[in-house]
Amino acid sequence: MIEMQDVSKTYSNGVTALSRININIEQGEFVYVVGPSGAGKSTFIKMMYREIRPTHGTISVNGINLSKLRHNKVPLLRRNIGVVFQDFKLLQTLSVYENVAFAMEVIEEQPANIKRRVMETLDLVGLKHKARMLPTELSGGEQQRVSIARSIVNSPKVVIADEPTGNLDPDTSWEIMNIFDEINLRGTTIVMATHNKEIVNTIKHRVIAIEGGRIVRDEAKGDYGYES
Ligand SMILES: Nc1ncnc2c1ncn2[C@@H]1O[C@H](COP(=O)(O)OP(=O)(O)OP(=O)(O)O)[C@@H](O)[C@H]1O
Ligand SMILES: [Mg+2]
Repeated sequence: MIEMQDVSKTYSNGVTALSRININIEQGEFVYVVGPSGAGKSTFIKMMYREIRPTHGTISVNGINLSKLRHNKVPLLRRNIGVVFQDFKLLQTLSVYENVAFAMEVIEEQPANIKRRVMETLDLVGLKHKARMLPTELSGGEQQRVSIARSIVNSPKVVIADEPTGNLDPDTSWEIMNIFDEINLRGTTIVMATHNKEIVNTIKHRVIAIEGGRIVRDEAKGDYGYES
């Protein structure tokens, strides 16, 4: 469902972040992306939802060739891709409910569906009872759950997460991982960049290791493989 063929990315300052990447991720997989700081993990991930475009090569997601995708069709692509960030990126003036509902409103979902689906999703992440609160009234782990709810509310085929536990303490990180596992068990593909060695070595999934812009390892149920 995510395919990269001979993909390279050189930023405008001349830094080559990725070189000749070939990868194939199937529907339903759970993939960790690991590697040292500056290796190219975020660049790799951002290309999947066309936050950035490759300098060379082709990427397709859900059968859509991203190089040929017109600008006005990008929202359609993103409808099928949920994105979760290290720093949550919630709208601070909106309630928990409104943050999640917003993702449905922008794609013009029927209002009648929105309430039911938002509450169902908040229930899944264990935050139904905090629907009326503001992000500033929540812990980091709770804020990350809201952002996960927002990422899955439109039932995307894939969720892409860039260091989703990077700002969280160990216990909270495990709770967040359990939610991702639950989402994956329901059939959603997960691609997650992480520096969390303990998690990668405990909840085993495919590991793609990137170093210096190249894939140096791609292993089913792999290890983290670095000292951290
Ligand atoms: N917008 C940009 N413009 C120029 N260079 C960039 C840009 N974004 C990233 N880079 C460079 O590309 C390389 C890869 O960066 P990237 O953010 O993909 O690494 P990363 O593996 O995600 O690192 P980290 O673990 O620290 O998040 C680095 O050398 C970085 O400085
Ligand atoms: Mg990064």
